[in-house]
Amino acid sequence: MEIERVQNIASLSNLNGTIPIEYIRSENEQPATTTIHGVVLEVPVIDLNDPDHEKLLASIFEASREWGIFQVVNHEIPSELISKLQKVGKEFFELPQEEKEAIAKPIGYKGVEGYGTKLQKEVEGKKGWVDHLFHRVWPPAVINYQFWPKNPPTYRETNEQYTKMLIHVANKLLGFLSEGLGLEEGELKEGVGGEDLNYMLKINYYPPCPCPELALGVVPHTDMSSITILVPNEVQGLQVFKDDHWYDVAYIPNALIVHIGDQIEILSNGIYKSVYHRTTVNKEKTRMSWPMFLEPPLEFEVGPIPKLINQDNPPKFKTKKYKDYVYCKLNKIPQ
Ligand code: SIN
Ligand code: FE2
Repeated sequence: MEIERVQNIASLSNLNGTIPIEYIRSENEQPATTTIHGVVLEVPVIDLNDPDHEKLLASIFEASREWGIFQVVNHEIPSELISKLQKVGKEFFELPQEEKEAIAKPIGYKGVEGYGTKLQKEVEGKKGWVDHLFHRVWPPAVINYQFWPKNPPTYRETNEQYTKMLIHVANKLLGFLSEGLGLEEGELKEGVGGEDLNYMLKINYYPPCPCPELALGVVPHTDMSSITILVPNEVQGLQVFKDDHWYDVAYIPNALIVHIGDQIEILSNGIYKSVYHRTTVNKEKTRMSWPMFLEPPLEFEVGPIPKLINQDNPPKFKTKKYKDYVYCKLNKIPQ
């Protein structure tokens, strides 16, 4: 069975300014009618190098409570390394189709890793205008190199360098988020798996779309992860839902975008909010993004941290294994 890739559909010469019907969202989802135009949302921007520790903690706490999303600058990952990460990812997606298919997620394979296109149709049988690649990058015991591109040859080394630096940033962020809740620095990280925390990289590839006003890239969702740390390219596309409306999130060169995911919302017993977001696509340009999902190991149990619970604050979430959380979310079973 041949799987249709969005990149191939986008390159067809007979589209004549149209897209196949399954990519046209229903009216209440179309970006043209549901986006607040002319407003690019200033999600909080956090300077990770701020010498005023209390101020830094307070701004991360506020951003995570109010928005569930913020951008990070002065994170110490060199811009050259971010550019290299983007370059090798782009080169992979520009390879001939057969080379990409060599690391496709095998049909029937239970995991999520590999090159692919979401098979499951979404709301009302619609599809997103996006292809992807997923592979774990940390810890070493969970890496399956069979899903890493062999081409370009520098792909592996570049991704390893980026991961190493990103782990530093992630540890800092989890520490600050933990302190913000009045916990010890290491407590949130322990609550999502400690050193066994899985780093899962996704690359989203959104080809140019003849009808960007009618289609979506990734449909509205919150991330299942603890946190997600994302690098976008320069093409506008990320939107967040705030005060009942969809807004574009400003692109800041070399900033990292941090999403609070469901697991941190759960651990914090709802003090931090996982962000509801989606992506739009562009008529002329290819948009790409590199989210890194920090996920608890599948067998690891996550629930509200006992210190954050008392008579006035009863637990708002069940404690369950991450794999059970994922199963319920994917199958739309109430948690
Ligand atoms: C996602 O939420 O999976 C994608 C976000 C993005 O492409 O910016
Ligand atoms: Fe997401």
